[in-house]
Amino acid sequence: AQKIPSLKDTFKKDFGIGTALNNAQFEERDPQMTQFIARQFNMATPENIMKSALIHPKWDTYNFEPADKLVEFGKKHNIKINGHTLIWHSQLPSFIRGIKSKDSIQTFFRDHIKTVAGRYDGKVFSWDVVNEALNEDGTMRKTVFLDHLGDNYVTEAFRLAQQAAPKTELYYNDYNNEKPAKRAGCIALIKKIQAAGVRIDGVGIQGHWHVGRVPLKDIEESILQYAALGLKVMFTELDIEVLPRNFQGAEVSQRMTANEQSNPYTAGLPDNVQQQLAADYEALFKLFLKYKDNVTRVTFWGVNDGDSWLNNWPIRGRTSYPLLFDRNNQPKLAFYKVVALKK
Ligand code: G3I
Repeated sequence: AQKIPSLKDTFKKDFGIGTALNNAQFEERDPQMTQFIARQFNMATPENIMKSALIHPKWDTYNFEPADKLVEFGKKHNIKINGHTLIWHSQLPSFIRGIKSKDSIQTFFRDHIKTVAGRYDGKVFSWDVVNEALNEDGTMRKTVFLDHLGDNYVTEAFRLAQQAAPKTELYYNDYNNEKPAKRAGCIALIKKIQAAGVRIDGVGIQGHWHVGRVPLKDIEESILQYAALGLKVMFTELDIEVLPRNFQGAEVSQRMTANEQSNPYTAGLPDNVQQQLAADYEALFKLFLKYKDNVTRVTFWGVNDGDSWLNNWPIRGRTSYPLLFDRNNQPKLAFYKVVALKK
């Protein structure tokens, strides 16, 4: 069989190619998987293990072991690690729920950023310092941090991260921040950080989109507007959902013809959806290439379809197909369309 082209090599001169990783992958439980990851990707983001609930389970207890392993994995395979994430309202340690006083939240906030960002300075390439602080209308999302620390908390998080991690790039990350109203809020937030003289190096657009509905115009406008602030623009959690929200994936394969089921490019999807998925990824990468001077990284939220969080959301146990590689790490039609852009 012919060797599968490498994404990271294909786009080497343009932008980094990343993936989300979990324990099984960075612990190298499957040597073939390790080889595959090292060949396809030069950047990685931990899907869960650096979130506060996992890395900081108790007031005075941190669990650094998985993150340390991830850092080792990155070093060994020349993969830059993006820390994800220091301040997020979700996947918080359970002890946070019991906290009622402003002082204690303040203490958690300071200690957490100082300890975690400090430990990995020079070891990770970058951090998503704050994740998902905005509502869809661009206002600040109501979170435990907003409630107790006020709407300056985002700037303060970056200030603390800058002190603790002077060698690490610092990013703001969100979803739907390519849409005009949320984008305006995001720009205001970034300007506020910059006006305080605090460093912010980039903005992440997560990129959880839906097949046939990828908002290319908004994305292009966002690249331009964020770049105008002097920031790197990254697509940080890219996947394209192919199932309707309340739809079990099994129903899709039941509708497939025998031909569709045995077609290697189909990888479990009806032809028409597979074609649309490929067209969407192709259009996206065309846009990323057009702005390669501003777009520095494109990270997929999972190595292959089998890893994707969309198999469990909003319903557990569905079967989705949102990525470039199928469950056996075989490239889908979308992969070949994307790679062909560089030929
Ligand atoms: O580890 C436990 C396991 O012990 C338990 O048996 C199992 C059953 O409930 O749950 C496991 O934890 C799950 C964890 O993923 C690891 O698989 C959590 O329930 C589940 O909520 C968690 O989901 C993650 C989600 O963030 C949490 O909000 C997804 O994997 C992860 O892909 C997703 O990632 C987020 C980004 O961080 C931020 N942007 C949106 C993106 C998608 O939601």
